[in-house]
Amino acid sequence: MDKFLISGPCKIKGQVSISGSKNAALPILASTLLFDKPVVIENLPKVRDIDTMLNLLKSLGSKIQFFNNKKTVKISKTKNQKYLSNYSIMKTMRAGILVLGPMVSKYHKSITSFPGGCILNGNSGRPINLHLNALRKLGMKYEIKKGYIYAKSNGKLKGNNIKFPKISVGATEQLIMSAILANGRTILKNCAIEPEIKDLTIFLKSAGANIKWIGKRTCQIIGVKSLREINYSIMGDRIETGTFCIAATLTKGNLKIKGFDPKLIQIELNLLKKVGAKIKMFENEIHIKGPKKIKPISYISTKEYGGLGIATDLQPQFMVLMCKANGRSSITENIFKSRFIHAMELQRLGARIFLKNNKAIIEGNTNFVGAEVMSSDLRASAALVLAAIVSKGESSVTRVYHIDRGHEQIEKKLRKVGVKIRRVS
Ligand code: EPZ
Repeated sequence: MDKFLISGPCKIKGQVSISGSKNAALPILASTLLFDKPVVIENLPKVRDIDTMLNLLKSLGSKIQFFNNKKTVKISKTKNQKYLSNYSIMKTMRAGILVLGPMVSKYHKSITSFPGGCILNGNSGRPINLHLNALRKLGMKYEIKKGYIYAKSNGKLKGNNIKFPKISVGATEQLIMSAILANGRTILKNCAIEPEIKDLTIFLKSAGANIKWIGKRTCQIIGVKSLREINYSIMGDRIETGTFCIAATLTKGNLKIKGFDPKLIQIELNLLKKVGAKIKMFENEIHIKGPKKIKPISYISTKEYGGLGIATDLQPQFMVLMCKANGRSSITENIFKSRFIHAMELQRLGARIFLKNNKAIIEGNTNFVGAEVMSSDLRASAALVLAAIVSKGESSVTRVYHIDRGHEQIEKKLRKVGVKIRRVS
């Protein structure tokens, strides 16, 4: 199992290019199951979750051809269509569930294993009830047997009015994809509106889907007969961008971040300004300089996109930043209420963090000292890497396969901007 050895403290300086967004690419790849014609996807991030999704599509019969050093992929339908999404692939990634709706919509049947993925919510797990209940309203019937969802529909799915009882990124994507080829009109209310979902709808619309946002969280889809051949380039990664912005702020650094539209992370950039960072925004570029002293923030909370809070996928990284602030801060996690495993690991490096339910109190002024820490999920491992960068001495961050799921070549990018980091097997 690979680990990172990081010698700190380091200052981050220079320029970094943001890779394509994993969380935009995953549903777009799943939606290729809806096409009869080939689809070319560009700007794919080279991360393990993308390999997993492509393997899943291949196992379902899609033909996968790579170009441009695996950054571009052509996905074509074959005559060898299969209907089983096997546990062996599904167990490693929650987003595998996104093939369920497209399979039932296009082929009217599917046997899909329950997905695995990052453990973010302690014993509460990561349910898929919102996906299943909403798909049922489109006419999908299903039975659960031995960890598999046996799903089918009587011909085409049928448009319906659906209000999600809770905002969910995955369920919104699942239903948008499933309604594209359904008969008639679907109205989805209380949708998630993350930029990655907008990227999915832009992609599908360019292929001929009839999708319209008719309210802030309301999406109307009128079924079409088929989708046309298309080339599409995935948007930049919002969470990678945010992680580099925090890295620059944390290390009193000076970074130019290229390949992402700053308007899409306004809430997080405003917070970084509040802690003292100097930020200049350009089209698809951010220049950020860290302050000498990081100010604490008494109340930070996570929220679905479009609300007044930061992305849950940046919460662990903000926690590291608050450890270095010159005073006490708090973070309330509203999306995955017990997404705090990184707090225990940060304590090994010297952090003083107190947890109560979904709230973390972070005493600032931490002098991190290098130690061995263990990654528990993708964003937690990014946070541990950040903490190691500002720790005195050597840290080893183990189980970096978590980070490999979603950060393209993080050690190469960090080395280029001044971090002493190496990967050892
Ligand atoms: C997506 O996960 C992202 N994954 C996650 O990023 C991200 O943390 C999350 O959205 C929230 O922004 C991808 O895009 C591939 P949800 P998703 O459904 O869709 C509850 C990363 O590190 N819920 O919006 O699984 C759920 O438990 C990953 O890149 C139900 O109760 O998240 C949570 O509390 C980690 N029933 C809340 O809704 C359901 O059927 C939001 O989850 C579905 C979700």
